[in-house]
Amino acid sequence: MNVGVLTGGGDCPGLNAVIRAVVRRISIAGGHCVGIIEGWRGLVRNLTTPLSVEVTDDIVGLGGTILGSSRTNPYKNPETDLIALRKNFGALELDALVVIGGDDTLGVAVRLYNDFQMPVVGIPKTIDNDLALADFSFGFDTAINVVTEAVDRLRTTAESHRRIMVVETMGRNAGWIACFAGMAVGADYILVPEVPIDLPHLVGVLTRRRAAGKKCGLVIVAEGAKFPDQEPLALDLPPNPFGNLRLGGIAGVIAEAIKEQTGIETRSVVLGYLQRGGSPTALDRVLATRLGLAASRLVLQHRFGTVVTYQGGRIIDSALTASAVATQSLDLSYYDEAAAFFY
Ligand code: F6P
Repeated sequence: MNVGVLTGGGDCPGLNAVIRAVVRRISIAGGHCVGIIEGWRGLVRNLTTPLSVEVTDDIVGLGGTILGSSRTNPYKNPETDLIALRKNFGALELDALVVIGGDDTLGVAVRLYNDFQMPVVGIPKTIDNDLALADFSFGFDTAINVVTEAVDRLRTTAESHRRIMVVETMGRNAGWIACFAGMAVGADYILVPEVPIDLPHLVGVLTRRRAAGKKCGLVIVAEGAKFPDQEPLALDLPPNPFGNLRLGGIAGVIAEAIKEQTGIETRSVVLGYLQRGGSPTALDRVLATRLGLAASRLVLQHRFGTVVTYQGGRIIDSALTASAVATQSLDLSYYDEAAAFFY
């Protein structure tokens, strides 16, 4: 059996652990794996690399993806890219394709399965933790640990200078990273896309804390957080091939407003791609490995058009549909718990 493996969309820690698990299980079953380079771009341009147990043996703790990634959307130029993709898929004589990606990359897999019965099995990944079917996706735990460590460091310099620090996290339109990391660092306030920014309340909390003798202030803001009736701030970049704007800049705006309204020296920090880089945590390595093994089992059973996810503490498989790969907002019960500290 010839199995293609591709990683698409924003990279995240744990991708290599999945690749390793897929290669190991398929190889043990007598199959062969081929890596598709840089996501869907590799199938459009026929860029591949052999994947053996030897090549993938020691990559469980390696960040990024040995296959490379891209946000190529073959459905954007169907006349050329989609046709090339299908031609290359045939020429490679692949019996199955394991697609590791977020909502955009898996959305393409859904369409390829529905439109052409391409034999795909999906594995969700994202630091944003914003996929409907998964309680938690690998990459998320690493991201919140990176934010936690960074903010623990920012706290000491903020305390020395009696400053307020406003820290912007990734997450696109979901507040999972900001909420979890914010709780982990004991933030004074957390702003998420799911709850419109209430500036007077934020300023009131920070002012009261300072009056009570607190030496610093910590505000965690998700890049997608927005003021009531406004769109999130976007960087001056063209939308990606899936039409998503690159969000960013809200921390600076919030910091400026806090400084003006409280008179307290305030700085902003954008953590950006640090959250996606580096080694996965042990939890992410284990989750990624389990998902890779589960997806390979589906491949070996010829159960295509499926996706494996982590739900209710177990790895389960479901149909790969548009609703399965839709995005999920932050579960607000977590935010309510975090908000117990905003007083
Ligand atoms: O989806 C992962 C993510 O890192 C988001 O948190 C962020 O908004 C986006 O990707 C950044 O995209 P790019 O890598 O295209 O700049």
